[in-house]
Amino acid sequence: MLTCFSEGVSAAKLDREPFKFRHRLVGHPALEMGNLARVIPALPKDQVMYAIRPLQNGDDFETTFRQRPEEQSIEATIENLRVSDSYIMVSSPQVEASFAGLYKDLIGDVEALMRERGVGTTAITPKLYLFIASPNSVTPFHIDRYSTFLMQFRGSKQVTVSQPWDDRVVSVRDCENYVSYVNTRLPWSPEKDAYATAYEFNPGEALHIPFVAGHHVRNGPQDISISMSIIFNTRQTMAWRNALNFNQRARKVLRRVGLAPAPVGHRPLSDGAKARCWTAWARLRYH
Ligand SMILES: [Fe+2]
Repeated sequence: MLTCFSEGVSAAKLDREPFKFRHRLVGHPALEMGNLARVIPALPKDQVMYAIRPLQNGDDFETTFRQRPEEQSIEATIENLRVSDSYIMVSSPQVEASFAGLYKDLIGDVEALMRERGVGTTAITPKLYLFIASPNSVTPFHIDRYSTFLMQFRGSKQVTVSQPWDDRVVSVRDCENYVSYVNTRLPWSPEKDAYATAYEFNPGEALHIPFVAGHHVRNGPQDISISMSIIFNTRQTMAWRNALNFNQRARKVLRRVGLAPAPVGHRPLSDGAKARCWTAWARLRYH
């Protein structure tokens, strides 16, 4: 029995394809604007990232928040959300008491789905993220190095998600470089949306974004948006991460002799072997 997720959730589709379903957390007091305005400014600064200019597709999402805006405080940014082009991202809000139970319950649901899918029993490095953004704001196109469940609490948005491992959307090399932190800028053009599904996303709805599936988000024009995601790795996504790291290095070496490694995500046996090689090599290197 799941605590936070409800109808439409499918363990069989975990990290195989995106899908929308329903969650039970609408009305949870932690996610009300009053609580967020109290909690967010009190969190450690490195957990609260914000931008006070509009973001767009093509922006490097990972580097966007590296520089903290000097000219506007987080308090003022929260207050002006409705009439500005701001974007606030909070990591690990569960360090604050009002989010602690929610975090535990979500991990319980994630681990139940993992067990059903056969990809381990414990969520690896699970983390909560809050996203609070002005009307019309955009989360630029990117992929993630983990599996995601995104939940909407206030406002509407359109979330466009492609299938994982679709090299028409993210090339094999870009995927390897991104996951290995070699290059986090992903090329995007509107034609790529032909290979993706645009989900209309409203309060009470949740969406699964599979590991390395390309996605971008546009908030609706009517209201600010409040959403929260739980991200995590499974035994399988960790193997893919390690195999992608292996491929990124192997590709450089093999290029010299005119060869290329087989792409990750299609052959479980070879992905597993690459992951084991990478883990063994990383262990040698760091110990
Ligand atoms: Fe994402």
